[in-house]
Amino acid sequence: MRLVLLGAPGAGKGTQAKKLIDKYGTPQISTGDILRAAVAEGTPLGKEAKAVMDKGELVPDSVVLGLVEERLQQDDCKKGYILDGFPRNTAQAEALDGILDKLGMGLSAAISVDVPSEDLMKRLTGRRTCKGCGQMYNVHFSAPAKEGTCDKCSGELYQRDDDREETIKKRLEVYEAQTAPLIDYYGNKGILKSVAGTGSIDEIFEKMCASIG
Ligand code: AP5
Ligand code: MG
Repeated sequence: MRLVLLGAPGAGKGTQAKKLIDKYGTPQISTGDILRAAVAEGTPLGKEAKAVMDKGELVPDSVVLGLVEERLQQDDCKKGYILDGFPRNTAQAEALDGILDKLGMGLSAAISVDVPSEDLMKRLTGRRTCKGCGQMYNVHFSAPAKEGTCDKCSGELYQRDDDREETIKKRLEVYEAQTAPLIDYYGNKGILKSVAGTGSIDEIFEKMCASIG
């Protein structure tokens, strides 16, 4: 399975990608996660990316394209991949088509997860992530048993730096202007599947699996 997950910040791309990995065994390629790892390591790329991410803007296309092209050539992607948060604009989508053609591993589908904008802010301000295992929680919808501590591995939970209200507003604007047009881009290619992203995480996952067929 070779997938792109499309959706606004907070739509549940990362949450659903984790479930898809468990079911299909294909790796998740999240450009946001790769960039956050570079920030945490304090690499030159991480320092450059942090300033942009904290403003809620997009990191330059050349940077993310290089990361994705390299990642897609790793062995585990031979059985498929789940692209989460990439592509983010038409230029990235066109460049991705070129990379996938070259590698002979074109997309099976692009799944758009649609969530009403009024739900997104609460999902993002409430999100907490485990430093140890990456498990995600939400203080409004799926709080851990003990505040600040992961139920699975007892790791410490943290809040993303870009999950502040002002930055979220900017991220949502950037999504509407630059990423939402990709819904038509993949619709025109005939590979778009749209899934309503409301309801429980398991219900959405069921719909997603049904849409893949
Ligand atoms: P990125 O990391 O990609 O963030 P994003 O697109 O803003 O999306 P999020 O990760 O915030 O949301 P999500 O859809 O994964 O939701 P989640 O599953 O976590 O990008 C961050 C930044 O990196 C960008 O702003 C940019 O600067 C840079 N960047 C990344 N990729 C780039 C690229 N390709 N080009 C240029 N720059 C790039 O869920 C959110 C919360 O909701 C969680 O708490 C979860 O538990 C909860 N939740 C999930 N599902 C449900 C449900 N059904 N009901 C209730 N709560 C739910
Ligand atoms: Mg995510």
